[in-house]
Amino acid sequence: MAILMDDQRVAQRILDHIERGTTDLGQDVWREPADNYRSHERLAAEVELVLRRSPTPFCPSAALPDAGSYVARDAAGIPLLAVRAQDGAARAFRNACRHRGTQLATGSGCAKAFVCPYHGWSYALDGRLLGVPHEDGFPDLDKELHGLAPVSAVERSGLVFVTQDEPGLTDRSLDQLPDLIAPEQQLFATRESEIAANWKIMLEGFLEGYHIRSTHRETFYPYGFDNLNLVEAFGRNSRVTFPFRRIAKLADMPPEDRRVEGLLTYVYHLFPNVLVTVLSHHTVVVILEPVALDRTKLVTYALTNRGSSAPELRQTVERDAEFVDQTGAAEDRAVVCAIQRGLASGANSVFTFGLFESAIVHFHRSLDAALRRGAGATGEAVA
Ligand code: FES
Ligand SMILES: [Fe+2]
Repeated sequence: MAILMDDQRVAQRILDHIERGTTDLGQDVWREPADNYRSHERLAAEVELVLRRSPTPFCPSAALPDAGSYVARDAAGIPLLAVRAQDGAARAFRNACRHRGTQLATGSGCAKAFVCPYHGWSYALDGRLLGVPHEDGFPDLDKELHGLAPVSAVERSGLVFVTQDEPGLTDRSLDQLPDLIAPEQQLFATRESEIAANWKIMLEGFLEGYHIRSTHRETFYPYGFDNLNLVEAFGRNSRVTFPFRRIAKLADMPPEDRRVEGLLTYVYHLFPNVLVTVLSHHTVVVILEPVALDRTKLVTYALTNRGSSAPELRQTVERDAEFVDQTGAAEDRAVVCAIQRGLASGANSVFTFGLFESAIVHFHRSLDAALRRGAGATGEAVA
């Protein structure tokens, strides 16, 4: 059974909302304690019990194109290394040498093997320990037991998911995830940046369209609607649809002929901390990595869309990506930082998420449940 509406049903639902002046509504209002954004214990629990135990996209498959391609970065505070092995499978390891823990790789690239920069121990792409310089200095070393420490890695929907710690928080809805990124989609930009805000505040900014008219008055709003969105939940994840005004022209078309590409933006929230945004000409994967209570690293991958990978479209795609980043996304970042400062003011003991913000409500509900499950699995108390 499909977990998300197909494009035709999405189009019809949007047209119905346009006609009636309505939008998707949640069931209830959610009051999230402001302390949940201010507590060090709470952040530690989110990272240890949820981020490290959830199957979380680490990078798009396109970031590992060939045998030996790798991506090294911290995920939930732990240095990890994802690599395309000789057999074509994506694998992940803790990025720490089994001698004394030095990181074996940084950034991204392509390697035949990983050689530790400290004393030169070397590892195969599948993690086996290959060589130890002056091995006679380690008379009892069992090489079989000193391969890189593996981390569970699964490739699906064009993304490499890792689950760092067991027991993992399984999510069967991910098995039915549609192909978010097809093999033909090309990676054209990778970026890391930091923002002075809690990771959940940053996330919330992607998950509702109630702010479009006020925040994006001159940028997105002229092309979009005031408060007209579809919200679908699947498992702990969700999809929020932001239609453009030009979608109204589909009303004159037989439903089976309706195509939505270029007429709406899909934002997929893959619990807990990843967003896949499908825009008109490109797709952006944003991974939110908590660095501190009030700092978040954004790891961003930009890919062409299906049908826009031809070289002659490349300029349009990159111009589009630049426009979104400099205008609407910059406005979002400014608001997110303002909320972080507002948090410090102490004016709010709770943040209230209304019926239009139901994808955020779904996130908080899922996060609370995951924290309880994670704490139950380890015997820890939830902050
Ligand atoms: S720490 Fe890697 S070889 Fe010594
Ligand atoms: Fe926004």
